[in-house]
Amino acid sequence: MPSNDETLVICRCEEVTKAEILDAIHDGCRTLDEIKRMTRAGMGLCQGRTCSHLISQILQQEGVLSERAATPMKVRFPLRPVTLEAIALGAENVPEWLATNEREE
Ligand code: FES
Repeated sequence: MPSNDETLVICRCEEVTKAEILDAIHDGCRTLDEIKRMTRAGMGLCQGRTCSHLISQILQQEGVLSERAATPMKVRFPLRPVTLEAIALGAENVPEWLATNEREE
């Protein structure tokens, strides 16, 4: 990874660049989770499987984090909104259009 290419996209899911990661580090972020909270890197569809290693490398290059101290990001399942109607019907009675939130007009 070129160290001076700050336009490099580190987190493809959330489109977070190396410059944004470096800004977060310079603003005081010291862990992967702090970077995640500050920039949204790692909150995308892959939940940091792709970008967490790169962010960890940047933290090490900046002298902030040792390799042994790097703890993985907390993974949270992606959420999607559920209507009260779907909850009232129960999981087995929800029609397809309601399960996908795509009502036909
Ligand atoms: S590449 Fe960062 S969350 Fe997917």
